[in-house]
Amino acid sequence: MKKRIAVVAGDGIGIEVTREAVKVLQAAAQVGGHELACTEFDWGAERYLRERVSLPPGALEMLRRDFDVILLGALGDPRIPDMSHAKDILFGMRFGLDLYANLRPVKLLHPKLTPLRDRGVEDLDFVIVRENTEGLYVAMGGNFKKGTRDEVALQEDVNTYKGVERIIRFAFDYARAHGRKRLLMSDKSNALGYGHDLWQRVFAELAPQYPDIESRHLYIDNLAFQMVKNPAQFEVIVTCNMFGDIVSDLGASLVGGLGLAPSGNVNPDGLSMFEPVHGSAPKYAGQNVANPLGAILTAGMLLDHLGLSQEAAWVEEAAKASIAEGKTTRDLGGSLKTSEVGDWLANFIAARYPARSVPTNRR
Ligand SMILES: NC(=O)c1ccc[n+]([C@@H]2O[C@H](COP(=O)([O-])OP(=O)(O)OC[C@H]3O[C@@H](n4cnc5c(N)ncnc54)[C@H](O)[C@@H]3O)[C@@H](O)[C@H]2O)c1
Repeated sequence: MKKRIAVVAGDGIGIEVTREAVKVLQAAAQVGGHELACTEFDWGAERYLRERVSLPPGALEMLRRDFDVILLGALGDPRIPDMSHAKDILFGMRFGLDLYANLRPVKLLHPKLTPLRDRGVEDLDFVIVRENTEGLYVAMGGNFKKGTRDEVALQEDVNTYKGVERIIRFAFDYARAHGRKRLLMSDKSNALGYGHDLWQRVFAELAPQYPDIESRHLYIDNLAFQMVKNPAQFEVIVTCNMFGDIVSDLGASLVGGLGLAPSGNVNPDGLSMFEPVHGSAPKYAGQNVANPLGAILTAGMLLDHLGLSQEAAWVEEAAKASIAEGKTTRDLGGSLKTSEVGDWLANFIAARYPARSVPTNRR
């Protein structure tokens, strides 16, 4: 199977961790006998500072036409304090490609990584499905009498039937496709009686269509509490844009932190984009010390999205093994460089799993 991947490494440590993600991706594909054609795009701070180009004209059309999936590193550079290039590229893709489902797995790969006492890998294995295109993040609102003591600031929370229906349906379909039996919807409908009442009604409408999935609801404050108290009760959680943003960071902290957290921005009917959760961490840029596991696990999600679930499982097994054996960067207590972690995982996959047929026409 030949697949075409657009690679946007971006800025800072994004460049270093993406290099390792591609290395491991290619190792898994090679063992599996698949050809992955990776094409790199230099969209990011350097190009923006040089040419004032962030997302080039026609980029989204080109991506849709020529690629099966996008792998992104991270965007953000202290020389561009307003983040205009990053917003153009990230939001350009998120809204332009209608990437409405943000998948954020919360999976513990080794017991030593969780700050929770007496919790093991069997207790932390769920996926947060965050609505990615609506809610409080649509930048609708305004100021009245700005800068005075009489200022009024309004920030609109947009919830459409179409947006809520498709994300809850996506979460049910995701649960079903991934052998998950429990789906939880979380909102704040006790306080947000219009927007989140819509979430309640749509959830009640869709749940009977999935009798094989046990569905339940928690208010968002109770969800945060329960994620720490008893995380084993969750399999798939679906929630709105802002709540998903917040509880998925809580989830990341429960399983080892930002350096390990992968994510996907999915449009099930179009082109999707996968990126580690962390940013460009400028203070570590260019030092070969950033943890590449978040980006590598992101590459694993990307493989699964392409239908290469066996190869995705190899990537995760390799990541687990590197953590168990202490073959990690210093943030996880190891002493390896970024590139050495990538080498270790690529070698692990090549040595551990029997190669199928190896394509020769690689680029
Ligand atoms: N999706 C994205 O591209 C994205 C996401 C978040 C932040 N950003 C941008 O990144 C820049 C830096 O933001 P920030 O400092 O708030 O967040 P950050 O995720 O870049 O870094 C926060 C801290 O987390 C740790 N960290 C993060 N990733 C790590 C890794 N792979 N290995 C080891 N340690 C890691 C470091 O201690 C780092 O200082 C900003 O310009 C911000 O806007 C981009």
